[in-house]
Amino acid sequence: MRIEKAKRVEQIPPYLFAEIDRKKGEMRRKGMDLIDLGIGDPDIPTPQPIIERLKKAAENPKHHRYPSYEGMIEFRTAVARWYERRFGVMLDPKTEVLSLIGSKEGIAHIPLAFVSSGDYVLVPSPGYPVYRVSTLFAGGTPYFLPLQKENGFLPKLSEIPKTVAEKTKLLFINYPNNPTSAIAEKTFYEEVVDFARRYQIIVCHDAAYSEVAFDGYRPLSFMEVEGAKEVGIEFHSLSKTFNMTGWRIGFAVGCSEIVSALGKIKENIDSGLFQAIQEAGTEALNHFDTPLPEIIKIYERRRDMMVKGLREIGLQVEPPKATFYLWIQNPKGYTSAQFTALLLEQAGIVSTPGNGFGDTGEGYIRMALTVDESRLKEAI
Ligand SMILES: Cc1ncc(COP(=O)(O)O)c(C=O)c1O
Repeated sequence: MRIEKAKRVEQIPPYLFAEIDRKKGEMRRKGMDLIDLGIGDPDIPTPQPIIERLKKAAENPKHHRYPSYEGMIEFRTAVARWYERRFGVMLDPKTEVLSLIGSKEGIAHIPLAFVSSGDYVLVPSPGYPVYRVSTLFAGGTPYFLPLQKENGFLPKLSEIPKTVAEKTKLLFINYPNNPTSAIAEKTFYEEVVDFARRYQIIVCHDAAYSEVAFDGYRPLSFMEVEGAKEVGIEFHSLSKTFNMTGWRIGFAVGCSEIVSALGKIKENIDSGLFQAIQEAGTEALNHFDTPLPEIIKIYERRRDMMVKGLREIGLQVEPPKATFYLWIQNPKGYTSAQFTALLLEQAGIVSTPGNGFGDTGEGYIRMALTVDESRLKEAI
């Protein structure tokens, strides 16, 4: 039988990190010892109290049945309390909080709730690849917003043509930013709220890295800005905050109408999040103050060592205030793909080419500080 894939599948390139995994496998088979600075997957274990809570919760037969679609009220209440403690933002756990099977899941589904064929979605370039692909899956057209060094890697909303803005349904933003590690201040978010109101655009703020910040810096929630809750939704994840990438737990908060529309899509696609994991997530949010100092100290040391080392060998990189990524300019004469290939083939260092995150990422590579210091020294 001839297996013919849907056009939506044909139009997407292989998932960036799946492609890098394939290349890594090839090099390993050749016997290369790899230093993997590719994907941003924390190497430090989940804090013990969270693991203990999961163990206990897993024994409870109540949790072996289907969970509720929107998430346990205890988990959603813990999210609301954490938002109040951390950001001073009040949320109604019943209507303004939704559990997610990792924030990627929510980001992947939200265009299905709002985007119809012919609609634009504003997508940062470079940016987390899921914004673009989820837009395409929903039949929308991504309109790329270049993130450039001279603008602090913030999009210039004033440069978006009016004709595009008028046909736009969603705007994706993400600060602290992957891959550039840039941060955003309140004035930027205020500009975003104004823009969203003017053109009736729903703002999707991806705050996956809000709790990975250094030197005492505390990233803002988009929801802290006046009017944000009327125009937007914010995606969060326990993945990077508590080293829980494998657990698959995240949440979305914000405007109740937007949250419930995403919930409606999810009700028809998934059956919620294993309740024992929600109990563990509740433990994490209630028990710890974030950013978690013991995690942050480790990343700070790695960042300082790596930035110093890379600068000493002549590479241009700024020390990030947040995220565990370094956004490094290519040496002269190399494209991003050539530089990552050189690092992989000659030194066994896995990094990510900047253009894999969008055309404007050309000229850079990204390294994740998710291996220990001795391996980072070796990489230098
Ligand atoms: C910017 C950004 N958003 C969202 C995610 C998804 O995180 P998760 O699905 O583990 O919550 C990631 C993961 O790397 C990310 O970099």
